[in-house]
Amino acid sequence: MHRVLALCLLAFAALTRAQPDESGDRIIVSGASGNLGELTVQALLERGVPASRLILVSRTPEKLEKYAAMGASTRFGDFTRPESLPSAYAGGTRMLLISIGGGALPEPRPVLHRRAIEAAIAAGVEHIVYTSWAAISQGDEGGISADHVATEKILMESDVAWTILRNSVYMDGVPDQARRMIESGRAVVSPDDVGMSYVTRADCAAAAGAVLTTPGHENKIYDITGPAVVGIRGIAEAAAAVSGKAIEIVEGRAGGGFALRSLAFTSPDFERLTGRRPTSVRELLESTL
Ligand SMILES: NC(=O)c1ccc[n+]([C@@H]2O[C@H](COP(=O)([O-])OP(=O)(O)OC[C@H]3O[C@@H](n4cnc5c(N)ncnc54)[C@H](OP(=O)(O)O)[C@@H]3O)[C@@H](O)[C@H]2O)c1
Repeated sequence: MHRVLALCLLAFAALTRAQPDESGDRIIVSGASGNLGELTVQALLERGVPASRLILVSRTPEKLEKYAAMGASTRFGDFTRPESLPSAYAGGTRMLLISIGGGALPEPRPVLHRRAIEAAIAAGVEHIVYTSWAAISQGDEGGISADHVATEKILMESDVAWTILRNSVYMDGVPDQARRMIESGRAVVSPDDVGMSYVTRADCAAAAGAVLTTPGHENKIYDITGPAVVGIRGIAEAAAAVSGKAIEIVEGRAGGGFALRSLAFTSPDFERLTGRRPTSVRELLESTL
């Protein structure tokens, strides 16, 4: 039974990964010079999308020169400067709208996201893929979720096909956490350490690459999570196993950590989209420590 499942997954992976996308879409990546943006550009190129079909929009397009040299169109676009958006999106048919971040904003995030969505539709974009937040799938609508809930609603009520990628918390900060545990030889675990389904940014980018280049994702919501719910205890165990150093687990109140009960779930969506398992905490530590 496991063999059959493995063969099916391999066949699916071959279908979704190896074949170049021949749809003719011109794909806009909004926020292409950010961490997730650039990883998504790389995922699209790895999938065989010709650079000439990429429209990379950023407040700092000069950071994207190497993709321009490959034939991508690199353009200035800033949601706080509405006049920049029509020419930024001209000619695009699909768009990855990366939720904006990076400190204080002059207007609420949903207002800025709405501006980008409306400009994209006016420019002829037919399908918008939005990077949202996994906690929403567990009924969390406040805090970090609120702006994403509002943006999802704007998209769903717009006259455009949409896909929502509800990403879990990035795993990319975990190696630093593990290094601190290894250096101090201890990890403070609080009694309510339920853990979260950490996912790497690279896996979020791989999921976006799959949705942007394969058919059948219109008006769907996917939860992009890592393979397991991992708490401080699990990070400490993985760090100890990978480094060979003993890490003592101390019960108490860990200061400054981020934990969200509504991220304590996993989803099969990443594997369905990409044909492979998402990276685990242990695998990330093995490749980074
Ligand atoms: N799942 C998680 O754990 C988690 C954690 C933190 C943040 N996030 C969210 O995920 C997003 C991507 O993460 P990341 O690590 O790639 O963040 P990042 O490197 O800080 O990138 C910020 C992104 O926002 C864009 N942006 C900021 N202001 C903008 C504006 N005025 N107009 C247009 N675009 C603007 C940037 O585009 P350019 O710089 O290219 O213009 C860039 O794509 C974040 O922006 C945030 O919404 C998720």
